[in-house]
Amino acid sequence: MKYAIETVDLLKTYVSGAMEYPALKNVNLKVARSEYVAIVGPSGSGKTTLLNLIGALDKPTKGEVYIDGTPISKLDNNQLAELRSRKIGFVFQTYNLIPYLNVLGNVELPMMSLNTSPKLRRKKALEILETLKLADKAYKKPNELSGGEQQRVAIARALVNDPAIVLADEPTGNLDSKTALNVVETFNRLNTEGGVTIILVTHNLEITKFCHKIVYLRDGSIVKEVIQRK
Ligand SMILES: Nc1ncnc2c1ncn2[C@@H]1O[C@H](COP(=O)(O)OP(=O)(O)O)[C@@H](O)[C@H]1O
Ligand SMILES: [Mg+2]
Repeated sequence: MKYAIETVDLLKTYVSGAMEYPALKNVNLKVARSEYVAIVGPSGSGKTTLLNLIGALDKPTKGEVYIDGTPISKLDNNQLAELRSRKIGFVFQTYNLIPYLNVLGNVELPMMSLNTSPKLRRKKALEILETLKLADKAYKKPNELSGGEQQRVAIARALVNDPAIVLADEPTGNLDSKTALNVVETFNRLNTEGGVTIILVTHNLEITKFCHKIVYLRDGSIVKEVIQRK
């Protein structure tokens, strides 16, 4: 069986000057299609590093990431761009919104490289903003929004292309509990109704209640996996 995501002996060592820092040590993670997995671990345990490698935003020192059975180290730049824009929706821990574009512009951005008509782009962007209760912010710039609102714009942008895989790095880190619940429910709906494969990075166990599996990361290694439901 092909997994949606599989990492094999994934190793990442950051080098700065003479210092080497092992951020991931032989991580073997399997995520089935339509599985909803949480990765939990303390700050510095390698969660963002792991997600960046899975999302093809960074290259491992050793090991391989397979997306639907394809080893991503074998993809050329065009194929990688295709993977990132069509298949994977990435929610960055630091949002990475474009400051000079308004909310609509930011959410429409992932559709610009596809052949989506301007009218359909607008329609899809407004729909996802509606889902995330952000429709009234459509014409605001990121710096006119609260941290939590910017975080939800980043989520809207990741979801707008209907990706088969969503990688979300602490997507509720800056949300109050009510708004966090809205995001968690949105992810749950994507997974149960849309069959979207989700990896949710968090250090808040409360938001993992809908996840099939919780993977615990510590010092760059998986130390425990707990199956919550099938
Ligand atoms: N670009 C980098 N250069 C050097 N060290 C890094 C870099 N990115 C992360 N690290 C280090 O790798 C470890 C894991 O970081 P990270 O993956 O961001 O952890 P988490 O997301 O779990 O907080 C941390 O100790 C961090 O300081
Ligand atoms: Mg992180």
